[in-house]
Amino acid sequence: MKPIDVPVSPHLLRWATAVFSVATAIALAGCHSEPPLTPQEAEGEHLYAVRCAHCHRDNDLALKKVPPDLHSVFKNSKLPSGAPATNAEVRHVVLAGRGMMTSFAGRFTDDQMAALLAYLHTGLREP
Ligand code: HEC
Repeated sequence: MKPIDVPVSPHLLRWATAVFSVATAIALAGCHSEPPLTPQEAEGEHLYAVRCAHCHRDNDLALKKVPPDLHSVFKNSKLPSGAPATNAEVRHVVLAGRGMMTSFAGRFTDDQMAALLAYLHTGLREP
């Protein structure tokens, strides 16, 4: 069978290439368009990285009850346990511990706790 010969004008081809590169540029820029972390969120990111990530991201203790992923902790209306996803509740879990999760009572100042919560609200945005 003879392939159908579709005439493509060089003009159209150039136009299509231009549209494609603009679309690609926008898509790539989109990855970096999130605002940088505020100083408070950046402090929270550090606290999350040193205190929480080894369990919640890496489960390095190989806990049978896998620590829940915290990316969407404040995006859902409820925590995995079913408790409301509020600052007060997350603060309570961090201070009191829960199941295999250690208690952090006395380990965070009020400012550090506020920073940690602020960072959790970013959905664990990359710094
Ligand atoms: C030793 C490992 C470990 C560390 C460290 C840890 N967690 Fe957890 N976390 C867990 C486990 C396991 C659960 C599931 C608890 C359960 O429901 O039995 C959990 C649950 C949670 C929950 C969900 C609570 C609910 O009501 O469903 C939140 C929120 C949370 N952790 C936040 C944090 C934050 C913030 C930190 C850092 C300050 C942290 N965790 C540090 C192991 C850990």
